[in-house]
Amino acid sequence: MLKDRSILLGITGSVAAYKSIELIKGLRHEGASVKVVMTEASKRFITPLSIELATESPIEPASGNSVYCDMFDSPLSHVSLPADADLFVVAPATANIIGKYANGIADDLLSTALLAFNGKVIIAPAMNWRMYENPVFQKNLQYLVSIGVKTVGPERGSLACGEEGIGRMADIEKIMEAIRTALSKQDIAGEKVLVTAGPTREDIDPVRYISNRSSGKMGYAIAKIAKRRGADVTLISGPVAIKPPDGVDVINVETANEMHAAVMDNISRSSIFVMSAAVADFMPAESKGRKIEKKEGLSLDLIKTGDILEDAGRLRNKPFIVGFAAETGQRLDRARKKLVDKNIDVIVFNDVSKKGSGFDVDTNEVVIIDKKAEKRLPLMSKDDVAIALFDRIIELKYNNG
Ligand code: PMT
Repeated sequence: MLKDRSILLGITGSVAAYKSIELIKGLRHEGASVKVVMTEASKRFITPLSIELATESPIEPASGNSVYCDMFDSPLSHVSLPADADLFVVAPATANIIGKYANGIADDLLSTALLAFNGKVIIAPAMNWRMYENPVFQKNLQYLVSIGVKTVGPERGSLACGEEGIGRMADIEKIMEAIRTALSKQDIAGEKVLVTAGPTREDIDPVRYISNRSSGKMGYAIAKIAKRRGADVTLISGPVAIKPPDGVDVINVETANEMHAAVMDNISRSSIFVMSAAVADFMPAESKGRKIEKKEGLSLDLIKTGDILEDAGRLRNKPFIVGFAAETGQRLDRARKKLVDKNIDVIVFNDVSKKGSGFDVDTNEVVIIDKKAEKRLPLMSKDDVAIALFDRIIELKYNNG
């Protein structure tokens, strides 16, 4: 995702400075080149040598110097460093650097380079909660936001001073996602994407239910990539154990009936609907209000749940609709039939019996089928499946396939 992108990272004097190493490694892992500007205060928390080592890798050594501290070591570095960067990230960003940047003060390499940069900037504030809530700081922060600077965090939690409050630097994964978003094409901006994910649970009694192995990973990846590419995203999720992507509206449901109702409540506001949830096809005809005792024995009468995708396909003003077909074996014929029967635009054939594909794994192997073409993809991460899916949706929606 970040291959060949050039990131200039500013590190300032916060106890969170040591986390920059993880950030640099994450960026390098995704193919970015990273150059670092450290302030004098940051060197009290982490050494330039540690940062230098993080920017190097035995496989792909960073070219030339990668850590800069002093304006006068190389007199034009405050101009040449920003000129080469696709993105400027300051993490952690103290109240001091935010105040200087908001007020045009350029008295060291980092603050000068920030003023000399005219691309996208992300800051990850980190400070004591009193400083964060101070109206002087808030005014500076809001000014930066008003001119397009993106902020990530801070988060609430225990702070370096031992107090609880807002001021912890955002998680590295959140900063990474903000970077991916900033460097990602915004080709579905303006779209309202509705995604379903995860399993449903159909109660037998208050302690037992019928469900399936869906972890929600595929649907959450779809929601994340839609958000990253600029869409407004609503995620209707069955019970899962993973965290939803940032910036996505989440509606939690439990049963197929609840998912059906949530989809119908939201679909008229959506321009793209992706049904990747594994909805239970059957539910008990009757759910007992009390725990069934072992000695009673148990035989279940099952009835079909309503087909959400089929009902969506019948709507008069329907959005662009994508369904998934979870099959065991190469039953592409069954997927093609679902595309036609459910009157939808795309179906993603998913052989869930293949190793590394389908339920509760990080990867998937799919065929994207529409009325014009079938695209077989190799085994890849669920994020990459979501990227390929939106590439195809855009081709079909905007370029007529
Ligand atoms: O969550 P993960 O662990 O990441 O796993 C991902 C996944 C395997 C769940 C996902 O990739 C997937 O294949 N989802 C669809 C699962 C499924 O229910 O497939 P199906 O062939 O049984 O149903 C066809 C379509 O009808 C699906 O889009 C399904 O969401 C929809 N459906 C099914 C039943 C129902 N009552 N209403 C529906 O809308």
